[in-house]
Amino acid sequence: MADQIFHVFRGDANGGDLKEYAVPPMEGMVVLDAIHYIQAHHDGTLACRWNCKAAKCGSCSAEINGKPRLMCKTRVDEFHGASITVRPIKVFPLLKDLVTNVSWNYRVNKEIPPFTPAPEAPGAPPWRMAPVDVERLFEFRKCIECFLCQDVCHVLREHNGTDRYYGPRFMVRIAAMEMHPKDTLSRADLLKGKGGIGYCNITKCCEDVCPEGIHITDNAIIPLKERVADDHFDPWRALLRRFGGRKEPRGT
Ligand code: SF4
Ligand code: SF4
Ligand code: FES
Repeated sequence: MADQIFHVFRGDANGGDLKEYAVPPMEGMVVLDAIHYIQAHHDGTLACRWNCKAAKCGSCSAEINGKPRLMCKTRVDEFHGASITVRPIKVFPLLKDLVTNVSWNYRVNKEIPPFTPAPEAPGAPPWRMAPVDVERLFEFRKCIECFLCQDVCHVLREHNGTDRYYGPRFMVRIAAMEMHPKDTLSRADLLKGKGGIGYCNITKCCEDVCPEGIHITDNAIIPLKERVADDHFDPWRALLRRFGGRKEPRGT
């Protein structure tokens, strides 16, 4: 079998270009294997980020033939011998080759108040979670915190909006807490303000690339938008939720 041809971005914030590499075919090869082969046999200075090689850490996010994907989950044979282009994700500043500066995620994470359950009353019976809540939250808990949905979000990517919108990944994170029946906080003010949820216009591009198939807009962003609207434009409903202890999402 002929070698598989890869075009991999080499460069840094000052510029760069695609470089061609030939990689011998290997049974079951994924794009990350090819990158490791290039590092081992062609150029050890090629920079890439990875960790689990099991589609669970999100570190190997890259643009493969123009689409954000996990390098460790992308089989080479699906391209049927055509050349494969690998570029860094565009949404974050480039450091070197396939590695970008993703520190913005750590900053945003710190701005989001964590899960805050009410203290257990002494002697209270064990709390049981309704299956419907388990199912709803399980979808959000599948998020591997990669960078794929962020890379296609036009607010973050085309409009350089990391200063005004938290983006889809953090909408999923916030939804997981906001919709937890035990959580006592409302993050509606944060979502409306610094979180910038109003900038999302529900294009659903983020859903198309999510490796976990999370319905980011339908199940996270739209219900969060409804919460923000209630809190700001329907004070009666907001009061009911606050004093009635309701945490279940709307529209279900
Ligand atoms: S639906 Fe919202 S979060 Fe998702 S890509 Fe579009 S603007 Fe971004
Ligand atoms: S929602 Fe999906 S695409 Fe976005 S960070 Fe989580 S797993 Fe990745
Ligand atoms: S290396 Fe962890 S998701 Fe690819």
